[in-house]
Amino acid sequence: MNHPRVIQGGMGVGVSDWKLARSVSSMGALGVVSGTALDILMVRRLEQGDQGGHVRRALAAFPDQGVAARILERYFRPDGTADTHDFSAHPLWHADSDRVAADELAVAGNFVEVYLAKENHDGVVGINFLEKIAVANPPAIYGAMLAGVDYILMGAGIPVEIPGLIDAFARGEGGSVRIPVEGFSHGEGYALDFDPSTVLANPPERLKRPYFLAIVSSYVLALTMATRATGKVDGIVVEGHFAGGHNAPPRGVLSLDENGEPIYGPKDTVDYAKMVGLNLPFWIGGACSMPESLEESQRAGARGIQVGSLFAFCTESGILPELKKRFLEKVKADSAQVFTHPKGSPTGYPFKVALLDRTLSDKNEQQRRKRLCNVGFLRELYKTPEGTIGYRCPAENEKAYAAKGGDASRSGDALCLCNALFATIGLGMKYASGYLELPLVTVGSSLESLRLMIERFGLSYTARDVLAFLGLTPAREAKR
Ligand SMILES: Cc1cc2nc3c(=O)[nH]c(=O)nc-3n(C[C@H](O)[C@H](O)[C@H](O)COP(=O)(O)O)c2cc1C
Repeated sequence: MNHPRVIQGGMGVGVSDWKLARSVSSMGALGVVSGTALDILMVRRLEQGDQGGHVRRALAAFPDQGVAARILERYFRPDGTADTHDFSAHPLWHADSDRVAADELAVAGNFVEVYLAKENHDGVVGINFLEKIAVANPPAIYGAMLAGVDYILMGAGIPVEIPGLIDAFARGEGGSVRIPVEGFSHGEGYALDFDPSTVLANPPERLKRPYFLAIVSSYVLALTMATRATGKVDGIVVEGHFAGGHNAPPRGVLSLDENGEPIYGPKDTVDYAKMVGLNLPFWIGGACSMPESLEESQRAGARGIQVGSLFAFCTESGILPELKKRFLEKVKADSAQVFTHPKGSPTGYPFKVALLDRTLSDKNEQQRRKRLCNVGFLRELYKTPEGTIGYRCPAENEKAYAAKGGDASRSGDALCLCNALFATIGLGMKYASGYLELPLVTVGSSLESLRLMIERFGLSYTARDVLAFLGLTPAREAKR
C-alpha cells in the first residue's frame, strides 16, 4: 500500500475536525479527525443551531434514519447560535448500565465527522482515538467505520485488542474489549461489548476494514503491538515527548527539572534502526515538522512524519481564531511559553500546556473554577466496596473524589481537560451562575517550525501552506 507520507495528527477535542482533515486529505496527505468526544461535539453543534447545516447533512446520510430523527428531535435548536453555551446534559459514559442512548450518540457523532471529512474528494481520511477512553471507544470506532474511514489511529495506551475489534466490525459482527477497572483482579476484568444491532435496525453485513496504526512512544511498545495485537497492525506512529497534547511519561522514576517539568533522558529516545526491523511502515511525530523533516525521517527508514502543532494553528483547525492569533503573536514575538505539566491531565500522563492569559493555564483561573465533572471522558473506573464499578476523576470536586477512594494528592494538579478542550473550540459550557468554562491550548514544545511558518506565511496560514512548508506540495504528493 502506498500510505501517505505526511499524517496530520489527530488533535482533540475538535481541533482536527472534519474541515481540517478534509482539507489535508483532499491534497493527498492523511487528514485525521480527532475521535475524542464526537458524541458531545455533535450534540453541542446541533444546540448551536448547526451553523452551515453540516451535521444535518451528514445525519441525512446516516444508515438508520430513526436514530438520526431522534437525535435531531432531542438536540437540534433552530434558534441556536455560536453564542449558545447553555448546553444540555447528555448521558455520561458507563460501562455497565444501559448504554443505548450513549451508544447511539457515539455511533452517529463519529459517522458525522468522518462522513463530512470524506465529502467531495477521493483522498484517504483517518480518525484518532485514545486507548485510555476505553469505555467510549467500541461504538465510536463502529460509527467511524460505518462512514468508511480509511485509517484508525490509536495512542495513549497499548491498544492490542483494537485490531481484532475492527476485524469483527468489518465482518458485520459485534465485538468486545477488556476495560481496566482499578481494584478488579485480572480474572475479574470487565469486558465491554458493543453489538451494532442495539443501535441500527439493519446493520450492514460487512464494513470496509480500515488500516490500523498504533501510536507509541517506544520500540518496546511498537514490538508489543506488532507481535501481540489481536489483528493486523498496519503501521506505527512513533511519537516523541516534544509532541503537543498528552505525552508518555519518562521511563523509570519521574523526576522534575527546576521548572517542574518531567526530565526525559536517553531511554526515551527510539532507535529507528530497530523500528525498521519490525517490517512495518512507521511515521515519526513530535517536533518533526521542519522543511527537512520528511527527508530525514525517510533516511531513518520511516515512511514519513506525523505533524500536529503546525496544523493546529492553521485557518481550518477548530481552535478559536482569537486563541490562535494570541498564541501565534507570542510565537512571533519570541515570548510563547509551553509547559509540560507532569500531572495536569486527569489521566496522570504529562500534558503540554500553552501559557496564555484568560485560559485555564492561569493558576488564578484554575482556582476560580468550580470543580465538577459533567463530561466525564477521562474518569477512572474503580471497584466500589459493593463490588460494582464506580467512576471518579481527579479533576472533579476534591471531596467527592476522595470519598470515592481517589488519591487526594492528585486533585490539586488535575485540570478539567474535558470542559477546557471544548471551550478551546468555542463549545464551552456556561452555567446558571454565569461562569463560562475557559479554554486550554495545547501545543508541541518545539516552536521553531511554527516561528518559521509565520515568517513565511504570516499569522494566518492554511493547511496547504503547511504541506508546502513541509516540502510536500499537494501536486507533488498526488503524482506519487
Ligand atoms: C492541539 C493538539 C492536540 C492534540 N491532541 C491529540 C489527541 O487528542 N490525541 C493524540 O493522539 N494526539 C494528539 N496530539 C498530538 C498530535 O496528533 C501529533 O502527534 C503531534 O502534535 C506531533 O507533534 P508536533 O506537535 O510537534 O507536530 C495533539 C497535538 C496538538 C498540537
